[in-house]
Amino acid sequence: MYNYIGDKIMTKLLSGIECRNKLKEKLTKKINKIKEKITITVISVGNDEASKIYIKNKIKECQSVNIECQHLHFEKTTTNELINLITKLNKDKNITGILVQLPLPKNIEENKVINTIDYKKDIDGLTKSNIAKLYSNQKGIIPCTAKGIIDLLEYNKIEIEGKNITIIGRSNLVGKPLTLALLNKNATVTTCHSKTKDLKKHTKKADIIIVAVGKPNLIKKEMISKNSIIIDVGINRINGKISGDIDKSVYKKCKAITPVPGGVGPMTVYEVLSNTLECYELQKNKK
Ligand SMILES: NC(=O)c1ccc[n+]([C@@H]2O[C@H](COP(=O)([O-])OP(=O)(O)OC[C@H]3O[C@@H](n4cnc5c(N)ncnc54)[C@H](OP(=O)(O)O)[C@@H]3O)[C@@H](O)[C@H]2O)c1
Repeated sequence: MYNYIGDKIMTKLLSGIECRNKLKEKLTKKINKIKEKITITVISVGNDEASKIYIKNKIKECQSVNIECQHLHFEKTTTNELINLITKLNKDKNITGILVQLPLPKNIEENKVINTIDYKKDIDGLTKSNIAKLYSNQKGIIPCTAKGIIDLLEYNKIEIEGKNITIIGRSNLVGKPLTLALLNKNATVTTCHSKTKDLKKHTKKADIIIVAVGKPNLIKKEMISKNSIIIDVGINRINGKISGDIDKSVYKKCKAITPVPGGVGPMTVYEVLSNTLECYELQKNKK
């Protein structure tokens, strides 16, 4: 997919929808060969509006590849109640994967809850065990957004090894796992954050810039070099419209960019499916 200005091709749009559709075809074939029903449980607490949309999308995607999705929603609950529930689900042979939708309300100890999930059922890849595997470059379940970005780069035949990659954002959910996953792929990674001095210095030198902040128009054309590849992870809702973290001026200067919506978002949801299959194979000792 290309971004046209007049007749001239300007920038390649890295479509997450196209990539997801292709990868889903392969995944569906694999799932259809499995005789048992694969079921995951999604746990959510509270009334976060964005979370409701993400859960709806995940359930729809699961159903589209014959993964059954059991959604357990609590208006209010406690850390202990969630730990007890997850402990039961860990033992339940009919449940392949467990996903706790984040963020959890402030009264709940998020870390304790997440780390109760058996690493073999951890489809979000956020338990200490899976993060430790990522840290030591062992095979494990990789967090969905990081894995989705790598799959999208590889699908578009964008080389990672030896490239200068600047990531903006160091959250446990996106920036940190992505830093590790790209290091494991032999990139030279710089991770920036709100205390980084002279962000432009780090974005200018990058072959690939990945922005996961949640601030519209953070990256402007003066901050990037020509021919750089931009991955826009940000999701900002302004007057009912969704936009990323990249200023529109960047589209004319960079070599390729992920659109928002339709870029990283669909890839993140796809990786829930892909990680579910990996969990199934782990539990069956097929990997
Ligand atoms: N497309 C998808 O599938 C997907 C998936 C997950 C998240 N997202 C979106 O991605 C964005 C980031 O998510 P998140 O969970 O990682 O958010 P987060 O936990 O709020 O982290 C944001 C990061 O941005 C850094 N930051 C804030 N202001 C900055 C600035 N001016 N310059 C440089 N760095 C700055 C913060 O630095 P400090 O650490 O110093 O505070 C932090 O590391 C959000 O818009 C979220 O909705 C999208």
